[in-house]
Amino acid sequence: PYVIAEPCIDVMDRSCMEECPVDCIYEGERKLYINPLECIDCGNCESACPVQAISQDRRVPDDQEQFVEDNRAFFEKPLPGRDDVLGAPGGAVNTGPIGVDTDFIAGYAAKSG
Ligand code: F3S
Ligand code: F3S
Repeated sequence: PYVIAEPCIDVMDRSCMEECPVDCIYEGERKLYINPLECIDCGNCESACPVQAISQDRRVPDDQEQFVEDNRAFFEKPLPGRDDVLGAPGGAVNTGPIGVDTDFIAGYAAKSG
């Protein structure tokens, strides 16, 4: 699947959402997440992002490798304050913004400048 990494944090341009044919890009509080259970690897989202936050999981920059696991955790582990897991809800149009992040992203230092 494709993965959204560090540059999306606190930017959340959302152009990627409009390009995804299966609507598998979901909105947290500080970042968006691609659902690896739903992404069909079409790659449309990659060029839509103005800050180059998106790449295929095999091509995520070495220093952002943790984002691969974190994108997956957003859907496969309970999020802070929730008992259930999101799983494959069939599109962000069905869920609306999720409004919370993984602990990893919630605690990520804000970018300076
Ligand atoms: Fe984030 Fe880029 Fe999408 S900033 S919301 S990954 S267009
Ligand atoms: Fe959608 Fe991007 Fe995957 S456009 S199907 S999230 S490669």
